[in-house]
Amino acid sequence: MSYKSVISVSNLTKFYGDFKAVDSVSFTVDKGTVYGYLGPNGAGKSTTIRTMLGLLKPNQGEVQIRGVNPTKDPVQALQCLGYAPELPNLQAFFTGKQLLDFIGKIFKLTTQDRKKRIKQLLELVGLKEWENKKIGKYSKGMVQRLSIALALINDPVVLIMDEPTIGLDPEAKTQFRNLFTTLSKQGKTIFLSSHLLDEVQRICTHVGMINKGKMVFTGSIGQVLETFTQQWVVEAELEKVTKTIVSSLKKFGYVEDVKVEGNRLKIKLKEKKDLRGEISSEIFKQKGVILSLNLHKITLEDAYMRALKEGQ
Ligand SMILES: Nc1ncnc2c1ncn2[C@@H]1O[C@H](COP(=O)(O)OP(=O)(O)OP(=O)(O)O)[C@@H](O)[C@H]1O
Ligand SMILES: [Mg+2]
Repeated sequence: MSYKSVISVSNLTKFYGDFKAVDSVSFTVDKGTVYGYLGPNGAGKSTTIRTMLGLLKPNQGEVQIRGVNPTKDPVQALQCLGYAPELPNLQAFFTGKQLLDFIGKIFKLTTQDRKKRIKQLLELVGLKEWENKKIGKYSKGMVQRLSIALALINDPVVLIMDEPTIGLDPEAKTQFRNLFTTLSKQGKTIFLSSHLLDEVQRICTHVGMINKGKMVFTGSIGQVLETFTQQWVVEAELEKVTKTIVSSLKKFGYVEDVKVEGNRLKIKLKEKKDLRGEISSEIFKQKGVILSLNLHKITLEDAYMRALKEGQ
């Protein structure tokens, strides 16, 4: 079957009663990318995901996963897909191993394949020592780890996860980030939601920003930075800021604006260029003593805050 994007969502709309939780959301996710669906609490991330998977009936719009609509043909669409929900509610009386085995059987894995895969996955998510303990005894983070292992049991080519690293300790967060990157390098396509910017910036190659049910921006991380970029800023800490230093810097063609905050200067640049050399030599010329000099490029956080403002 031929399809252009691994995940394609067009004009997806979902109401709860009169309330429009997802409003004409469209985006595509290509093979091997890690797409971060970023938005604040209540933005509509989980609703989008559940509607994408056919777990909620969309009021409008269409979703295709590898060319298949999960609402119309769930068995075929879900065969190649792994899903880790937001708040996994796993069977408390099963052990982790039993549940993995059970789900493996649903995917028709052979006994041998299940054995091999379950061993690998339990090691991968750091639950080997807990494999024979009942899930009811697991901590929140352990349930989250098991949920990701369950999503991977059928070796899916598309992995959809709703806030996968919530509840994980910092070490596990790093492990899982690395895992997602490795999986994407193997050609798997990963879609994850998050309200954490730094997380998306670290793991994802692409991002969709959603606010109040509306997609504010979708594109590569590079594109988002480019689109919302204002300026680069040089921050200089001086022993003493003098009027002469400030006015001489302001006279430069490459400086847009200089702000003084105590003994710090915030020098906004007109171009996206590292001009610390030029700035420091000017400050020296004006007899200034530099204690520190840093260049700040726009972060995803700056872009995100701007995107949310523009989307209101
Ligand atoms: N079953 C429901 N009935 C009515 N309203 C709902 C229901 N589920 C979600 N909502 C509302 O829809 C909006 C979007 O909720 P959703 O759970 O999709 O947000 P989210 O982006 O996943 O948030 P979070 O980061 O908190 O998980 C919210 O305003 C929420 O109150
Ligand atoms: Mg949610």
